[in-house]
Amino acid sequence: MTKLQRQLPRRKDLAPLLKFKRRVGDANQRRLATAHTIWDLRRLARRRTPAGPFDYVDGAADGEVGLHRAREAFEDLEFRPGILRDVSRTDLSTTVLGARSALPFGMAPTGYTRMMHAAGEPAVVAAAERAGIPYALSTMGSTSIEQVAETAPSARKWFQLYLWKDRELSLELVANARDAGYEALIVTVDVPAIGNRLRDLRHGMTIPPQLTLRTFVDASYRWEWWFNFLTTEPLRFAFDRKGEGALTDIVAKLYDPTVTFDDLAWIREAWDGPLVIKGIQTVRDAEQAMDHGADGIVVSNHGGRQLDRAPVPLHLLPEIVDAVGSRGAVMLDTGIMNGGDIVAALALGADLALVGRAYLYGLMAGGEAGVTRCIEILAAEVERTMKLLGVSSVDELGPDHVRLMTRRMPV
Ligand SMILES: Cc1cc2nc3c(=O)[nH]c(=O)nc-3n(C[C@H](O)[C@H](O)[C@H](O)COP(=O)(O)O)c2cc1C
Repeated sequence: MTKLQRQLPRRKDLAPLLKFKRRVGDANQRRLATAHTIWDLRRLARRRTPAGPFDYVDGAADGEVGLHRAREAFEDLEFRPGILRDVSRTDLSTTVLGARSALPFGMAPTGYTRMMHAAGEPAVVAAAERAGIPYALSTMGSTSIEQVAETAPSARKWFQLYLWKDRELSLELVANARDAGYEALIVTVDVPAIGNRLRDLRHGMTIPPQLTLRTFVDASYRWEWWFNFLTTEPLRFAFDRKGEGALTDIVAKLYDPTVTFDDLAWIREAWDGPLVIKGIQTVRDAEQAMDHGADGIVVSNHGGRQLDRAPVPLHLLPEIVDAVGSRGAVMLDTGIMNGGDIVAALALGADLALVGRAYLYGLMAGGEAGVTRCIEILAAEVERTMKLLGVSSVDELGPDHVRLMTRRMPV
């Protein structure tokens, strides 16, 4: 056996090892810098947000199988790289609905965003504006159409509409969105009834969140969330200044289970910009949406929050692209937690991916800076995956770059 030769450490050898990192940014930025994945942001979010709002975001319907399967589909796929390509420069931009997006993903509409963090929708749209990517404001937003527009005048803003029992109110929102310069209308069609969100029921989720004994215990270590919550404008749905009560009750009063494809006609008449139908889950419905005048669709199962065990969007995508890809934009969401997931969706023919929870985890982890961190993480992952696949632009991605694995594929 060779004998290890030892020596006393010398000052000149130690000095280069003792370089202490200079503290950069404030405590929030330093905390966010420790997050290297969206899962890391989720961990930070969980520590900093009360269980009710955190689970409202994190949870899905019933057994949460739909969300789990959607994420599993992204995990299971196999990338097929091309080697020895010049990938010194990469262009991550893409065109969707006739305009550029600096990155191949956008922010999906999420209701009641100020509950996740007091900075809410303005923080998300501001981060999207800086990144040059689209942002969709939800009908169920906690910030008004106008305030979001004022916060980020040059952002690409889309307005997401639910077709409500009160048609006048729907039309009023459409008119407000048009007047405030929103570019596209996204009509979400997968909520004829609200999904069975068991975590919300178990928390007794109400709007606004209630101060109970349990909440006070929770507040003792999520004090920043509570401080923000109690010292900013009271939380409410922007469309209805009086809206209060259990989330499920509000939803039951508003959502209209009688809506059919024919209703797209009056929306088409009221909105002359790009019209996108969100919540498409079969090839037939994708075709019908286009037949009824849509300019695009979002293949989505609402992040698994509506019908549990609904089709996995990624599995459906190739067939849908085949059927309607030449007739309009095809976007995809549900389960995206990594830039590689976005690249896979683009390779299988999506024009853009949308993320929901990913940016909400960022928001809960650190407000606007957290949303920016989410965008940075996803953008870096998209770029790295593209380089490793041997492509330098989004247009070069194609079905040859991805093979779907057969575990849980529909038979
Ligand atoms: C907290 C939360 C609220 C949401 N609210 C809405 C909404 O108001 N309107 C809508 O069309 N979709 C809504 N969604 C669905 C998202 O637009 C999107 O389809 C979904 O989040 C994508 O899945 P992902 O979260 O795994 O990225 C919501 C999703 C979450 C997580």
